[in-house]
Amino acid sequence: MKGNSVIYSLFLSTSLFLTNCEKTNEPVKNNKIENLLSQMTLDEKIGQLNQYSIGAELTGPGAKEGINKIKYDHLKNGKVGSVLNLLGAKNGRETQKFVVEESRLGIPLITSYDVIHGYKTMFPIPLGESASWDLELMESTAAVAAKEAAAAGIMWTFAPMLDISRDPRWGRVMEGAGEDTYLGTEIGKARIRGFQGNDLSDVATIAACAKHFAGYGFSEGGRDYNNVYLGKHQLLNTILPPFKAAAETGVATFMNAFNDIDGVPSTANEYLLKDLLKEEWAYDGAVVSDWGSIAELVPHGVAQDSAEAAQMAITAGSDIDMEGYTYIRNLKQLVESGAINESLIDDAVRRVLKLKEDLGLLDDPYKYFDEDREKEVLLNPTHLALSREAGRKSIVLLKNEGDLLPLKVKNIAVIGPLAKDKDSPIGNWRAQGEKGSAISLYEGLTEALPDVNFSYAQGCKLSIGANDFAHEVEIENSDRSGFKEAVEVAKKSELVIMNLGEPAYMSGEARSRSEIGLPGLQLVLLKEVYKVNKNIVLVLMNGRPLTLQWEAENIPAIVEAWHLGSMAGHAIADVLTGKYNPSGKLPMTFPRSVGQIPTYYNHKMTGRPSTEPGMVFYSHNMDIDNSPLFPFGFGLSYSTFEYSPIALSKEAINKGEKVTVSVTVKNTSDVDGEEVVQLYIRDVVGSITRPVKELKGFKKLMIKAGESAQVDFEIGEEDLAFYRKDFTFGTEPGDFEVFVGTNSTDVQTATFKLN
Ligand code: BGC
Repeated sequence: MKGNSVIYSLFLSTSLFLTNCEKTNEPVKNNKIENLLSQMTLDEKIGQLNQYSIGAELTGPGAKEGINKIKYDHLKNGKVGSVLNLLGAKNGRETQKFVVEESRLGIPLITSYDVIHGYKTMFPIPLGESASWDLELMESTAAVAAKEAAAAGIMWTFAPMLDISRDPRWGRVMEGAGEDTYLGTEIGKARIRGFQGNDLSDVATIAACAKHFAGYGFSEGGRDYNNVYLGKHQLLNTILPPFKAAAETGVATFMNAFNDIDGVPSTANEYLLKDLLKEEWAYDGAVVSDWGSIAELVPHGVAQDSAEAAQMAITAGSDIDMEGYTYIRNLKQLVESGAINESLIDDAVRRVLKLKEDLGLLDDPYKYFDEDREKEVLLNPTHLALSREAGRKSIVLLKNEGDLLPLKVKNIAVIGPLAKDKDSPIGNWRAQGEKGSAISLYEGLTEALPDVNFSYAQGCKLSIGANDFAHEVEIENSDRSGFKEAVEVAKKSELVIMNLGEPAYMSGEARSRSEIGLPGLQLVLLKEVYKVNKNIVLVLMNGRPLTLQWEAENIPAIVEAWHLGSMAGHAIADVLTGKYNPSGKLPMTFPRSVGQIPTYYNHKMTGRPSTEPGMVFYSHNMDIDNSPLFPFGFGLSYSTFEYSPIALSKEAINKGEKVTVSVTVKNTSDVDGEEVVQLYIRDVVGSITRPVKELKGFKKLMIKAGESAQVDFEIGEEDLAFYRKDFTFGTEPGDFEVFVGTNSTDVQTATFKLN
């Protein structure tokens, strides 16, 4: 130890205090940062822009030898500003102490991690949770994830993912809010509020990150890391609004995307990072690269070498280099040779220091490292209760013919490779969610229904071999030895619950699929069971929309249960038993087949829409209907709801005025139930082609059996505005259609005019 802690605390207390007293007219924050910046060498500045992935190597057995020598030296010499994957209060404290005491200025590290759907207590995967359409709920689960992560020494999460995507082949749809810009924007804001709370320096909150900026969800063919081709209108109207809203909500950081957009990689995209984000949107937070994405400018073929990649990225506005080694190796030389101006580096460093200050680290570098708090917070039982609540609200009832559900019979077979699987429901981005720690469906059911006689058969295996983040999933495709037992138990039962779907690591990063039906032998098994017992409730666990054409035609009851997290089995049992009346609605269209992709509700009309029967020369596939299998916004309940025609407060509005859209929704059943009432509009004629429908509002409400509720939506100019032909944002006068309904297809319709 060099005793730098003395310099550090002197610097933090005395020098800052004096500086602040002398310059009382300037905000304290700026003084602190400017003062610190003025003391930094160029090497130290560049160090703040360098991020490494490290574990407990500095503190565990074999400390110092365990860690890569370069990383060790860089940490020691103030050449690392933030780290990812360093977990636990003890490890964090010891690593922070090392950096603070060994480095010249003792600037504390920021710790970061992918806390996507929980830290220790696992919540539903984000796509699943988005099906709840419950913004308060999503804010609460993000807040609990933040609280647990912060207690374990994490200050910054790389979430929420705000990528809109219309391609379920892309495995990362599990990490987002689905296909819709409006819903994605609202959910993104809720998650950011949840993670960050009102005060980033509070040890129960963490900094959020709006990712991946931008266009990653449009990877060609749904293949992860692939190139993206987009028109600028689509970028502005469909992809960027959630990011703009995130910036306005005060998200602490942004992460750029791996992909290029029309030839320019996001990491080096001056238009996106500089012109739009930092200038037009006046964003003052830090932009982190994605893992190695600056170095990847070389294989992208736009930079000759790592030095050119660093130059392009810093010039464009990427502030932090995550595991790319390009800034630490090249920025100094680039400044010294005059290739880039040091002011670029100063700007990036200011953003990093601002985050450190907002997190409270400049006052207390150790505030996130409290082992007692860690013990107390992790796996607090109230967190598990919230996980169960989130789980059941995320479930979507897709079909319930003959009211098979809620369960009424006493003799039930539970069949399928996922039924006793305690791991898959934990999901892909599981942070510190323990392997095999979920309540399985079988456990949930047997606990909920002690008087029912359950029998069980696995039927077939699903994934074989390694089941983790770093390995390709291997699916069992040939072993049918379990079929016989499955058929036997099905024969003897009044009803069969089949639990099928994807294992946890079949969706997520690098998990693109070319076929998105039930993987392996599951559909064959389902058909065998169906031959002997048609009373089947199919419970699906998966991370993306699946193609379920045969299942939807033949199986009487289908329940979409995603990967629901720690309490999955209880949450599903709550729905199957009727303890909770399902209320989830799909945040993403389920296509009939892969060839139909992309299929999404808010598509354009085309010059040849499919309106007339018998027509040949229109936009369609000759072998499949254009309609989806299950549309966006779809989801059933044990209640039934009837919508009145729409009443409008006006037939025409002037700019600046609003029109109120009202419907009455009646619960025509004898069970209380929640309904998500959805509002869509269509701009009939625009300066550019416009979507056939766009979600503009929704309300989730409980309506008691036999009762009615009036739902009012206000539509004003901001709801009708878009990026027009000339790329300016605003409205255009003309006719608008308005739709209100229970999903994006079954709607009541009315029209009004904007003068
Ligand atoms: C992913 C990011 C993630 C980062 C850090 C990358 O591969 O694309 O979303 O935050 O790794 O783990």
